[in-house]
Amino acid sequence: MRKNSGIKVTLKAASTLDGKIATASGRSKWITGEAARLKVHELRHENDAVLVGINTVLADDPELTVRGIPEGRSPVRIVLDSRARIPKQSRVFQKDGVPVVIVTGSQAPSRTWPELAELTILTAPTKTPEVLWVLSEMSKLGLKSLLVEGGSLIHASFLRSNSADQLALFLAPKVIGGQKSLSWCGSLAIDSVDEAPQLDITSVTALGEDWLISAKIK
Ligand SMILES: NC(=O)c1ccc[n+]([C@@H]2O[C@H](COP(=O)([O-])OP(=O)(O)OC[C@H]3O[C@@H](n4cnc5c(N)ncnc54)[C@H](OP(=O)(O)O)[C@@H]3O)[C@@H](O)[C@H]2O)c1
Repeated sequence: MRKNSGIKVTLKAASTLDGKIATASGRSKWITGEAARLKVHELRHENDAVLVGINTVLADDPELTVRGIPEGRSPVRIVLDSRARIPKQSRVFQKDGVPVVIVTGSQAPSRTWPELAELTILTAPTKTPEVLWVLSEMSKLGLKSLLVEGGSLIHASFLRSNSADQLALFLAPKVIGGQKSLSWCGSLAIDSVDEAPQLDITSVTALGEDWLISAKIK
């Protein structure tokens, strides 16, 4: 059954032709080129909020802001962080007036947070915040659209909970290989092909040397 939070959810990943979003050592910078990265800023501008998992913050320290788009508006930044591990100096905490929401789990240790007027800490009722609960809390905040920027575990959770409406998959003409390098929804681990989520590809667009595959998730 599909969620009914009323929030339009888009999963976004930048992967190689073999579906990898990072090397085995966790490096994911510069998989795609400039045109693809600019398109990501457009997608952020079009969404009310952007969400990542804590491992992505720890590995990449992304800003999650909109840059290079005239009149670009940065979305609310959301991090799922059960154990409240996010470092205070993380770039998501930059003071640009954009709301930041950190979602912790029920057993997160107490800690101090950066002094940021726009910071909200939500504590989920479960040890790990569940996607459906996060979406219902987002709905209460009046958010209507969400761009999920990974990583692999987060994308798998959104697919598993049947909470994703569409996919924006940026494909770079590279291969990484490696059994231990992450694919964009690695832990989904569907056992039978019959049970695989089905997608309708709605467009394939060239972006420099990369491709953007847009698809609806059935
Ligand atoms: N190329 C790309 O498009 C791209 C994009 C993003 C990331 N990456 C790469 O992907 C890697 C990180 O991905 P990852 O799969 O290891 O981690 P992730 O998806 O970024 O974060 C997963 C972590 O989030 C926390 N979490 C809280 N609620 C969750 C929920 N409902 N479902 C799943 N996780 C939840 C868990 O940690 P706690 O238990 O501590 O809360 C979990 O281990 C990095 O190497 C990064 O560079 C690549």
